[in-house]
Amino acid sequence: MTIAPTTADARWWREAIIYEIYVRSFADSDGNTVGDLNGITSRLPQLAGLGIDAVWLTPFYRSPMVDGGYDVADYRDVDPTLGSLRDFDLLLARAHELGLRVIVDLVPNHTSSEHAWFKAALAAGPGSPERMRYIFRDGRGSDGSEPPSDWIANFGGPAWTQVADGQWYLHMFAPEQPDLNWSNPVVAESFEAILRFWLDRGVDGFRIDVAHGVAKDLKEPLPNLGIRSVDRQLRYEVVDHPLWDRDEVHDIFRSWRRILDEYSPPRIGVAEAWVMPGRRARYVRPDELHQAFNFDFLQTAWGCSNFVDVITGSLAEAEGVGATATWVLSNHDVLRHLSRYALPPATDTVAWLLSDGTQPLADLALGSKRARAALLLMLALPGSAYVYQGEELGLPEVADIAPQYLQDPTWERSGHHDKGRDGCRVPLPWEPEGPSFGFGSAAAWLPQPTDWATRAWAAQEVDSTSTLELYRTALRWRRTFAADFAADESLTWIERGPAVLSFSRSNGLVCVMNFGPAAVTLPDGKVIVTSGELDGGGLLPGDAAAWILTK
Ligand code: GLC
Repeated sequence: MTIAPTTADARWWREAIIYEIYVRSFADSDGNTVGDLNGITSRLPQLAGLGIDAVWLTPFYRSPMVDGGYDVADYRDVDPTLGSLRDFDLLLARAHELGLRVIVDLVPNHTSSEHAWFKAALAAGPGSPERMRYIFRDGRGSDGSEPPSDWIANFGGPAWTQVADGQWYLHMFAPEQPDLNWSNPVVAESFEAILRFWLDRGVDGFRIDVAHGVAKDLKEPLPNLGIRSVDRQLRYEVVDHPLWDRDEVHDIFRSWRRILDEYSPPRIGVAEAWVMPGRRARYVRPDELHQAFNFDFLQTAWGCSNFVDVITGSLAEAEGVGATATWVLSNHDVLRHLSRYALPPATDTVAWLLSDGTQPLADLALGSKRARAALLLMLALPGSAYVYQGEELGLPEVADIAPQYLQDPTWERSGHHDKGRDGCRVPLPWEPEGPSFGFGSAAAWLPQPTDWATRAWAAQEVDSTSTLELYRTALRWRRTFAADFAADESLTWIERGPAVLSFSRSNGLVCVMNFGPAAVTLPDGKVIVTSGELDGGGLLPGDAAAWILTK
């Protein structure tokens, strides 16, 4: 069975449901412990059956995998551990056949230190055009032995590394990820060609990694920022920061938009931009990118007024520039939202991971209820939503991965203070049995908890109360609403607190979310989906949501 795209027009992205595939952890077709492109292709029918519109693939390019592929050694080739260009073409063709669009990840802020450009830069020496593709500086101090500034990298440690001839290069992530110099036109031209390479192959868009970091103000003297350490969401309190969210970044995206618009139907750009409140809309102005992840929504602490505020603010912000909001609850960089909602408010999650998830213990039953409710909320809102692989299986964060398995560079770079992001990247369980629960024919690159047998896709598919079935049901309904949602991208608030939020869409869908504790009456109409069981009298309990069709 194939599902035709619900939104065949140029505005398809405005209301799209996009599923993030973290390639290394999705499905392993060749038993090398790492997920790959053929594994994805084999599972595409299941994703199409879920009712999504598109997939976003994290980087699958040639890479030493120091940062899970976000360290690209060749932007125009597939890493041999993940497949080949031919495998990619087959994946794309199969996806399109199934009515799914494909968005690929573009990493413009930095390359791998194994990229030919960086090797050439090291070989060519100070002052050479090869070095001008990156950000090289002489060090401070009489002998240049101190870094050019006090900047801290996002994975911990200094953001500068010294090379053999004494110069230093900038890397805002791992030392194996040297930052590119975007004020050099050669870099900009090269990326335009890379965009076209993938567009010509037929991709439907790009997710742009660290979109807010590409343009930098590097005029001398470089300022010391006095930042103690930086959380990995890259949020800074410094206004006019030399590295983040600079106005110049928008010129780059305008030029990319012109390229995207040359293709038909127009392809899209999605910004990963961790920016201060109110700054996100700048990335989705009509002549820039199409979407920017709504990390404010993702970071919203459980509570009615918090959600009302973030929804109201996000809708107004997107509307102000003619875009739609882009909702997201989880991704491959953050603690899975089921676990976030299972922890007491303001839990220090880095410390929690370090305690292997024992201090405090997470209330996973509560987290699961809330995560299911949050899905119904997200899918009823105007705009586009991103689903991160595994949330449809109700996967929690794996907090107790033993240190010898950890691969996120954060672990080493933070001096073993921060376990990093591996806990949300544990390979998916597809079957209740097998060496890696159907992920592949061998073990998985990160150990899976033994109780994931019950969370396997195949186990949930036959259980009408499972989280997978909730996703499928809600997404199927959502597809039937697609034309109405596209025709009217607004909501009307019915209740905005103190414990309940509810709103209607013009097609008659009402979404009610109860933050509890008291159970509440639902409006008249047909209850079509609930995140949990209604109580005996048909009341909606706390930490639950329901969809009611009132027309
Ligand atoms: C983005 C990616 C993250 C990666 C970083 C550096 O934030 O989502 O996984 O580590 O960029 O490329």
